[in-house]
Amino acid sequence: MSDIDSILKESRVFPPPPAFAANAHVGSLDAYRAMYQRSLGDPEAFWAEQAETLQWFRKWDRVLEWKAPFARWFDGGTLNVSVNCLDRHVVTWRRNKAALIWEGEPGDVRTLTYRQLLDEVCRCANALKAMGVGKGDRVGIYLPMVPEAAVAMLACARIGATHSVVFGGFSAEALRDRMNDATAKAVITADGGYRRGSVVPLKANVDAALEGVPSVTGVLVVRRTGSAVAMRDGRDHWWHETVDAASPDCPAEPVEAEHPLFILYTSGTTGKPKGVVHTTAGYLLGSALTTRYVFDLKDDDTYWCTADIGWVTGHSYVVYGPLANGATALMYEGAPNHPQPDRFWSLIERHRVTIFYTAPTAIRAFVRWGDEWPAKHDLASLRLLGTVGEPINPEAWMWYRRVIGGDRCPIVDTWWQTETGAIMITPLPGATPTKPGSGTLPFFGVSPEVVDQKGHPAPPGAGGYLVINKPWPSMLRTVWGDPDRYVEQYWKRFPGIYFPGDGARRDEDGYFWIMGRVDDVINVAGHRLGTMEVESALVSHALVAEAAVVGRPDDLKGQALVAFVTVQAGEKPDEALRAQLKEHVVHEIGAIARPDDIRFTDALPKTRSGKIMRRLLRDIAAGKQTVGDTTTLEDYSVLARLREDEE
Ligand code: WT7
Repeated sequence: MSDIDSILKESRVFPPPPAFAANAHVGSLDAYRAMYQRSLGDPEAFWAEQAETLQWFRKWDRVLEWKAPFARWFDGGTLNVSVNCLDRHVVTWRRNKAALIWEGEPGDVRTLTYRQLLDEVCRCANALKAMGVGKGDRVGIYLPMVPEAAVAMLACARIGATHSVVFGGFSAEALRDRMNDATAKAVITADGGYRRGSVVPLKANVDAALEGVPSVTGVLVVRRTGSAVAMRDGRDHWWHETVDAASPDCPAEPVEAEHPLFILYTSGTTGKPKGVVHTTAGYLLGSALTTRYVFDLKDDDTYWCTADIGWVTGHSYVVYGPLANGATALMYEGAPNHPQPDRFWSLIERHRVTIFYTAPTAIRAFVRWGDEWPAKHDLASLRLLGTVGEPINPEAWMWYRRVIGGDRCPIVDTWWQTETGAIMITPLPGATPTKPGSGTLPFFGVSPEVVDQKGHPAPPGAGGYLVINKPWPSMLRTVWGDPDRYVEQYWKRFPGIYFPGDGARRDEDGYFWIMGRVDDVINVAGHRLGTMEVESALVSHALVAEAAVVGRPDDLKGQALVAFVTVQAGEKPDEALRAQLKEHVVHEIGAIARPDDIRFTDALPKTRSGKIMRRLLRDIAAGKQTVGDTTTLEDYSVLARLREDEE
């Protein structure tokens, strides 16, 4: 069997703008290469030097203990994440600098300075202590995107409790499973949250979930919407009563470098979600260092990552990375199209955002909604754009650069995972020439490779399996309560080497091109095609907004290519367009990738974090009933509509 065939052709290159490079933390490719070589030449010396940028109660004895696949970083050291994010800034001029600028969906705005944020974190920490929560306990956080979400995370860190944030869009069942798996002692939630103008009943979900969670003895409730909720005596406490009344002094608990900072559940393609465990020092170092270099972060930036704190991106790039750097971060509660499809552009204009980090799924939606929405706003404050979550189609990248970035802002396409804790493959915006659709080069200390089925290095240009062949500080340490699954899931396919599950190729310049999950690879007449390349060819057609390509069993070819396509707003798909699109793909990448079938649809099934669920489309393409887990699906009605279209 062959490896994965790569067929995408993309030759545009965008060097960093000279003025950007001149002021950047890393201002040339040579400077990047020198630092990268140093980081891999003597990783322990490099990481020890970087760890000096953190504040420690006690310095480490050993940088790394590696008993593959189990790592311990900075053993012997003690520190506290909240001290690194807050206390060390309030003793400097940053005490009155905005740490968080928050905007609610209804339009309310709150700003918390570093001093105010520290006081609030201490009060919350004291309230948690009064509820019997202490070092080593697990705390569930099920909140909307309100400042209290960041406060709650940092308050847990302050007392050495391990948080597990559950995305506010998840159901009561999903919350129950996660709280039971983590044997949480307390849950922090809100009476509700705003989403597209309506109220999500978070507290009611918590009440339903906790019927089956004996370990939880306390619930802390933020009043956000004012909706009526049931409060259970002895278990439930209002934030505005207990936290507001608590003392703003709470000494930070020194914890060991390897103390678990958080558990974040991530759903695999099958089976129950995995509790990815991240620890204190390595994770903090990874998120802080990448935030500084990848976003070229400066003290006068207003930085906005649009991710919800329910995802790892919200952990690393809304809360921990920016605050560890003393940055000003914008946080927004609601939907991008409320009340109108220009909400993000309005936020950027009004808050003078300089760095903007979002997901390809959002960018494709913006393209579909039309250029008139960003055109209504002055986006001149922006100097850098970022993307994460999926491979970005080159055409979506070009649109992002032109329409949002005004052909002026570099784009950092950042590859990483919940498991990696921090960005792994990425341009440095002042150093790395970018190519649309490529994550480009590895970050410091990261040693990725593309290998074939046997684990041998794949030649340049050839598709294969992405692996990481050295441990890094922010790597996951285990799957909560299930070390066997940790070994099985990530370290078995290529023994002793981390396998993230993605296909990739490396070009002649050493740039990485992620081709999607290997589970999604399609085998057409012996050619193994990554989904992303065919999808990109489709999306490069002017009338196509989004595409998902899957394989359907085929007697002749093994698998036939089925493309699900949504068209630009206002367009009516017809037979002529179907024929045109097939020819377009042949023209862009060749006959091997000609879709056998194109199905037009008004929406694609996605996870709540915006990833296309190709597994469900495979079932539909094959005319099968869906058997797998659909609880992470964002909109169930999409499946029903796709099925009806078949009839
Ligand atoms: C998977 C990880 C990391 C935060 C958000 C997602 C895909 C992520 C990129 C990118 C191509 C990407 C990969 C990866 N992915 N970023 N820039 N280019 N693919 O975290 O839910 O753990 O998903 O998302 O397939 O393995 P996650």
